[in-house]
Amino acid sequence: MQASAEFESEVLEIIKSRRSRRAFISKLIEPEKIKSLFEAARWAPSSVNEQPWVYVYATADQEELWHKIFDSLNDNNKTWAKEAPLLVVSLSRKRFLKNDQLNGSAKYDVGAANAFLTLQATQFGLNVHQMGGFDHNRLRQNLNVPETFDLGVVMAIGYPGDPQQLPLPLQERELSPRMRYLQSEFVMNQSF
Ligand SMILES: Cc1cc2nc3c(=O)[nH]c(=O)nc-3n(C[C@H](O)[C@H](O)[C@H](O)COP(=O)(O)O)c2cc1C
Repeated sequence: MQASAEFESEVLEIIKSRRSRRAFISKLIEPEKIKSLFEAARWAPSSVNEQPWVYVYATADQEELWHKIFDSLNDNNKTWAKEAPLLVVSLSRKRFLKNDQLNGSAKYDVGAANAFLTLQATQFGLNVHQMGGFDHNRLRQNLNVPETFDLGVVMAIGYPGDPQQLPLPLQERELSPRMRYLQSEFVMNQSF
């Protein structure tokens, strides 16, 4: 599979500038901006407009709740996410509200909502770093998450900091070019 660090076609500036950084400054995010992040998620499309997303967030000054989320992260993620001024857990409601049938699109829809949230954050100059590396059972216990919800990702969010504050191996990853497969590897104008 061929990959490149170059953009092949014109895209929005916030798509170009978004990146999952690991270094944050400690500055808390303004409450109205946090609200805007969830407003962006709110307006994402979803199957039959079910809006199966739920978010639990904690700012670093809400120490108890923040630590309930942080505690679930794997050790690699803990090394850098410890500086994140905002942690957000995304969850999906497994069943449709109107008929209690299983919603096969719920996780897909929450991913879309997370993408909207991420682009809004980028517009504010904030960095969002999604993490699948966390202990689901521990987070479920820590937050008393009912079985009717699936856990999605944990997002570390904050204003970008100096990569030099990170341990060396992470500095390299932070500064290395981002690679993407070429469109010719995943876009088809014909059947398989
Ligand atoms: C579902 C999901 C899970 C991820 N889990 C982790 C993680 O546990 N730790 C981590 O450092 N990055 C994680 N990432 C970030 C990806 O590694 C990152 O998006 C990818 O390398 C592309 O880099 P970019 O976002 O800067 O373009 C995750 C991203 C997604 C979408």
